[in-house]
Amino acid sequence: MKKSIAVLSGKGGAGKTLLATNLAVAFSKLKGKTLLIDADFGLPNAHIMLGVNPEKSVEDFISGTCTFQEAITKVSDNLSIVPGKSGSSSLVNLSAENGKKIWHGIKSVKSAYEYAIIDNAAGAEDYTMSLSCVESTPLISLIDLPTNFLDAYSTIKIAYHEYNIKTFYICVNQCSSLTDATRVFDKFYKITSNFLNLNMILVGFIPHSREIENSINKRIPFFYNEDRIEHSLIQNIVKTLDTHLKDK
Ligand SMILES: Nc1ncnc2c1ncn2[C@@H]1O[C@H](COP(=O)(O)OP(=O)(O)O)[C@@H](O)[C@H]1O
Ligand SMILES: [Mg+2]
Repeated sequence: MKKSIAVLSGKGGAGKTLLATNLAVAFSKLKGKTLLIDADFGLPNAHIMLGVNPEKSVEDFISGTCTFQEAITKVSDNLSIVPGKSGSSSLVNLSAENGKKIWHGIKSVKSAYEYAIIDNAAGAEDYTMSLSCVESTPLISLIDLPTNFLDAYSTIKIAYHEYNIKTFYICVNQCSSLTDATRVFDKFYKITSNFLNLNMILVGFIPHSREIENSINKRIPFFYNEDRIEHSLIQNIVKTLDTHLKDK
């Protein structure tokens, strides 16, 4: 695997799954073999946004009825997903031991993929942070709301202090333009850099749009619609991430 990107926010509803699924489709179309890992294991919805109905999930792997490889569902030529299992209590309350097991599972298939995109649960649980920070690069999905700022800051603080991450990539969601995204980014960077000595890079933005709402309702990632501005916005994010992130 060359690059692994973990979408984080701290807060639910910040657009992590929207960003992760569209990035996964974009990397698979533009760059190479991509594995999307739905790390919101107990309350997964990446497969919903992708429009696939996987038969197996990571729960089958945890319970020992299949290998990790068998828990992967192919979406298209270059894209596969490791889905979670809706309503699984063993995954909602993921133990440290099971977290480690999943981690080993992901490692066991790494050589088959060039890119990994991790869609995280809300919060900054130990398993979320280690999955996202040990061998991945965190990408923060940020919305211009005080609650989102606070949760994103708390997540960054843990990554900074406990995982020694000093560069953070930000995608601003639900804004109207690049100027608006830059304003939100500058405001967040100013607050954060009062307390932490870090680098922050704005990789792009996703607007709030009817097109995006429709894509979610239809279960077709908006990146597929090449005629729309939303497609090129994701294309630019892929370009920026691919040039900034070092190969593993
Ligand atoms: N840019 C956007 N445009 C339109 N709706 C959005 C946008 N971002 C998020 N949403 C809405 O917010 C909901 C939550 O987004 P989601 O990606 O599931 O967040 P998270 O994974 O962070 O919990 C989506 O189902 C959608 O209704
Ligand atoms: Mg989500």
